[in-house]
Amino acid sequence: MPGLTIGDTLPNLEVETTCGKFMLHDFVGQEWVIIFSHPGDFTPVCTTELAKVAAYTERFEERGVKLLGLSCGDIQSHNNWIKDIESYSGGCKVKFPIIADPKREIIKELNMVDPDEKDATGKQVPSRALHVVSGDKKIKLSIQYPATIGRNVDEILRVVDALQKTVNHKVATPVNWKPGEPVVIHPGVSNNQAKEMFPQGYSTAELPSGNDYLRFTNV
Ligand code: BEZ
Repeated sequence: MPGLTIGDTLPNLEVETTCGKFMLHDFVGQEWVIIFSHPGDFTPVCTTELAKVAAYTERFEERGVKLLGLSCGDIQSHNNWIKDIESYSGGCKVKFPIIADPKREIIKELNMVDPDEKDATGKQVPSRALHVVSGDKKIKLSIQYPATIGRNVDEILRVVDALQKTVNHKVATPVNWKPGEPVVIHPGVSNNQAKEMFPQGYSTAELPSGNDYLRFTNV
């Protein structure tokens, strides 16, 4: 069963968080949101990940992106753990809510279950799942890492930049793209349309096939 993934609508669940109870759709509003899960409170990889996200919070805010963490502890455990995270991050505050899911119900609804990892009592734990949701409440990007592999927060920022670029222009981002680098024109855009859409011009790679599908521009 594939579970929640790109193209799906985020379920409008009521969640209890370190910043109070709310419905997920109310939290999203008209903005971009990253919902990301952690296998457990007071675990080493999770602490390093959350410390880095805390340090990068302003960079997400600059992009109009709100953050929403999730771990299986209860609120009291989360609040105690946050003290460790803020200490490890050198004082960067955890300003975003962290969902409490002690009964492991929300992780099932949000496709955030690690199939292999169990906690000390044999219960299932969350994977390192991450969904990027836009104001239409749809999942625009989804990743799943196992509990043992920490995510790369620079990569998460990069894909947010790429997503926002491709929403605003009929383009796609090529391999290893970084902000400021050329993008490729969407294959569904004809050359005549491209001339109108991209008055700044574009260049076409010469390829053995003679086909002119690899077109670079700057937006
Ligand atoms: C961790 O966060 O360090 C972790 C959690 C579960 C399994 C492995 C690592």
